[in-house]
Amino acid sequence: MEDKDIIGTTIGGTYSGGVLVQLDGISHEQIEVGYSLVTRSNLKSYLMIVNDIVADSSDVALAVNASRKPTFTKDMVSGSLLTSKLNCIPIASSTENGAEDALTIPDYLSKCTLLTPEEAQLFYESCDLKNKYPLGTIKPTDFNLPIDIDVLVQNSFGIFGKSGTGKSVLGNLVAAYIVMYSNYVKQAQKENLPSTLLIFDMHSEYGLKLKTPSQKVLASGVAQTFPDEFRVYCADPTLVDDVEKEFKRGTLAKELKIKKENVEVEDIVVLSELLKISGVGGLILQSVRNKLEKLEDNWFEALLNFESFDQKMLKDQDFDPQVIISLRALSRRLSAFKHFPQLTDNEDTCQELLNDLKANRNVIVSFGRYGDLELLYMFIVNYISRRLREEYVSKGISEGTKNRIIIFVEEAHKFLNPNVRESSPLGLIARELRKRGIVLCIIDQTPSQIDENVLGMVWNFLVGATNIEKDIEVATGTLKLPQLFRPLVASLRRQEFLAYGSAIKFPTVVKIVDYSKQMENLKIAYQKNKPDLSKVTKSFERALERD
Ligand SMILES: Nc1ncnc2c1ncn2[C@@H]1O[C@H](COP(=O)(O)OP(=O)(O)OP(=O)(O)O)[C@@H](O)[C@H]1O
Ligand SMILES: [Mg+2]
Repeated sequence: MEDKDIIGTTIGGTYSGGVLVQLDGISHEQIEVGYSLVTRSNLKSYLMIVNDIVADSSDVALAVNASRKPTFTKDMVSGSLLTSKLNCIPIASSTENGAEDALTIPDYLSKCTLLTPEEAQLFYESCDLKNKYPLGTIKPTDFNLPIDIDVLVQNSFGIFGKSGTGKSVLGNLVAAYIVMYSNYVKQAQKENLPSTLLIFDMHSEYGLKLKTPSQKVLASGVAQTFPDEFRVYCADPTLVDDVEKEFKRGTLAKELKIKKENVEVEDIVVLSELLKISGVGGLILQSVRNKLEKLEDNWFEALLNFESFDQKMLKDQDFDPQVIISLRALSRRLSAFKHFPQLTDNEDTCQELLNDLKANRNVIVSFGRYGDLELLYMFIVNYISRRLREEYVSKGISEGTKNRIIIFVEEAHKFLNPNVRESSPLGLIARELRKRGIVLCIIDQTPSQIDENVLGMVWNFLVGATNIEKDIEVATGTLKLPQLFRPLVASLRRQEFLAYGSAIKFPTVVKIVDYSKQMENLKIAYQKNKPDLSKVTKSFERALERD
């Protein structure tokens, strides 16, 4: 530590309220909340994050202002009578034995400097582009924070923040890192399991392009950066051409088709809130499923057409008059399903999608112009998740984990709120299938609407700005000193995230790497080290045959 770098001295504070640092020789205007500092006491070095700036010499300021020469007087008393302080969160402490979470605060009058890249490396280690990838720079350094993807994919993780903070950009970046990491694992033939992505891509930002808030193209989504690695299933038939045009080949994009026969009662019941189906309505549907099956090729078709059936015929088929009224009402509410082109009589590409996942091919389900159609988005996400869960839940633990599956879901609270906790396939997956290697990447603006049992399964948090108190509380809930981090969350800029959890050594504020530049770098690194996919696929197919 050189004297010229010292910015201040600790003058007290509390562990629960933060450490007070009196600034010395630097204006508080040169420091921002979110900056990291290092403090050296006799025993340890401490890593701290500034969470408040305090200029509390207001009595002196008033007196100076009333003096005959305020500017001159101000210069005279700056730093002695006119002082500023920082309030800092104690994050980590280090000795020659290594760094660990700070459970105390630095001694009085310990000198502080802004974090340097060298010090950051001691606390956070470095990127190796195998397991650890650069998430972004730690303020105020240009040091890249490594995120350990090997650790990240072992449990569910969350990307939160209000609209426009950079969640979808970050989602694409993390997805790209998972692809790079999985290829490293496959090539190095490590014991670690490769990871396969299933991305529910509401706004076609992963399968096609990321756009800026003013709808200009920002960059390619992850599928276009690694076209050999992905299959894009398009809920919007016109999107198939759009995706293919970008790739100039014929195998990447496919229409997503769901055979009506494969729709189950629970796929409709899980939409109860949206369709305003009461609990009784759901039970009625369960109980008449078999009777409906006799009216048409399958129960779902019969339900969709229920209004066209003759009352007498229904009575002959043993339908109770009250049930007929309920089913007619339900049929009316489901009328949109009659026109969804994704529902067919004989085609179902969902099985193919599940086989792709089993064979370790990354899958994106892009919704194109249907992304804003909440009913369809929710139906398809729930349907695919239900079938995926059924495939894996029946398997033994070791059988289910030939590869990990990471499910990315945007607007996750729609699927994971407490009202649907019993029926939501994604909620069940989050709670039951972690040990079989299936975890979620939960992307959401309002984490407070997510069931706390699901949030309890989230081990890593990437939290962008939000002003809603409840959301801040939930997003910082598993930190050691959540009350100290809350002001930080509200102050984050676009592209800045509070990052913490098992895959990041210590909590920190990062400015996420520039997406377009980083994807270019990854593309080059990938091309240089491209895996022989035919070999990889073959080895997976052999493994599947052995099942
Ligand atoms: N890492 C980054 N690199 C470059 N630009 C970024 C980055 N992060 C965010 N941005 C900018 O911020 C904009 C908004 O990001 P993004 O679409 O990811 O926000 P969001 O949180 O997903 O918003 P919404 O909740 O509305 O979907 C991007 O279009 C881009 O201009
Ligand atoms: Mg988004």
